[in-house]
Amino acid sequence: MTALPQEFVRSTVDREGDAGAAWLAELPGIVADLLDRWGCVPDGTVMHGGVGVIVPVRRRTGESAVLKVSFPHPGNVHEPDAFAAWRGRGAVLLHERADERYAMLLERVRPTTLAEVEDGDEVVTVAARLARRLAVPAPPGLPRLRDQAGAWEEELRADAGELPHTLSRQALDAALATVHDLGRTQPDTLIHGDLHARNILRADREPWLAVDPKGHVGDPAYDGGTLLKSRALTLIEADDLRKAAHRVVDVFAEAAELDRERVRRWAQFHAVRASFWGRRQGFRVARGGPMLDWLTGFTDRLAEVLTDRR
Ligand SMILES: Nc1ncnc2c1ncn2[C@@H]1O[C@H](COP(=O)(O)OP(=O)(O)O)[C@@H](O)[C@H]1O
Ligand SMILES: [Mg+2]
Repeated sequence: MTALPQEFVRSTVDREGDAGAAWLAELPGIVADLLDRWGCVPDGTVMHGGVGVIVPVRRRTGESAVLKVSFPHPGNVHEPDAFAAWRGRGAVLLHERADERYAMLLERVRPTTLAEVEDGDEVVTVAARLARRLAVPAPPGLPRLRDQAGAWEEELRADAGELPHTLSRQALDAALATVHDLGRTQPDTLIHGDLHARNILRADREPWLAVDPKGHVGDPAYDGGTLLKSRALTLIEADDLRKAAHRVVDVFAEAAELDRERVRRWAQFHAVRASFWGRRQGFRVARGGPMLDWLTGFTDRLAEVLTDRR
């Protein structure tokens, strides 16, 4: 295998410590074994995301594919189950899986991600149409988001009490009401769970295909919230944050054929959680310092403007 991307090595050790370093030391051997097992040869530069390496390969048939090996973490267990359920409709095809290695052989698509598209409405529309395609009856055994509602509520109450923040009472109450009203009873629908533009790739079989699903089961409008949260940095430049945020909600709800109020409420919930998450862990773009303070303040404002219907 060609060298591991340095940034991936650094971020894995930063996040996972000794366990990360131990896994990275094993990784070249894991990749070599899997290439051998699945009859593939490397075919290009190794890529990475936040948790996995992506090795472009060629199969015996000559077909191009990628080998994805993720850091062994409970959050990465259900990715192959989601791909298997979709059977290539709206997402890349799963060719092989090695669950004990957190590894999959996947259809290779193009390197361009939806994040490279400049038009904000187009980004949101593409993501929403995919969300609609991906919302299929869920197989048993996948994690139900409704089972997390109790933990979400506890976490929100604890964070609000322990962390300094600028969120209003109304914003906090709205997030808690979303957990209560939408979180506790959710449909048995498979959703992506981490829908954002870098997890949507250019393809030929369909114009865009999803990668990197969590395999969560719940309200498809939840993914409207993850998408909007991931658009936060693009909203910073908006002259009118309220208008820009509600525009994302409108465009997503329309293209995904979802109730706009549900999308707005999940988006508000995600923004509140992101504010607290940022204060506890930092964000990918800012781990600390004045930039992080500024960003968490911005995320508070985002939650605030999404608290009202309009
Ligand atoms: N099937 C694929 N075909 C081509 N490139 C891919 C494929 N899957 C992932 N990639 C590339 O690798 C990056 C990270 O992949 P991803 O599955 O999102 O990893 P992570 O779970 O670490 O976020 C993607 O943004 C994309 O650039
Ligand atoms: Mg990803």
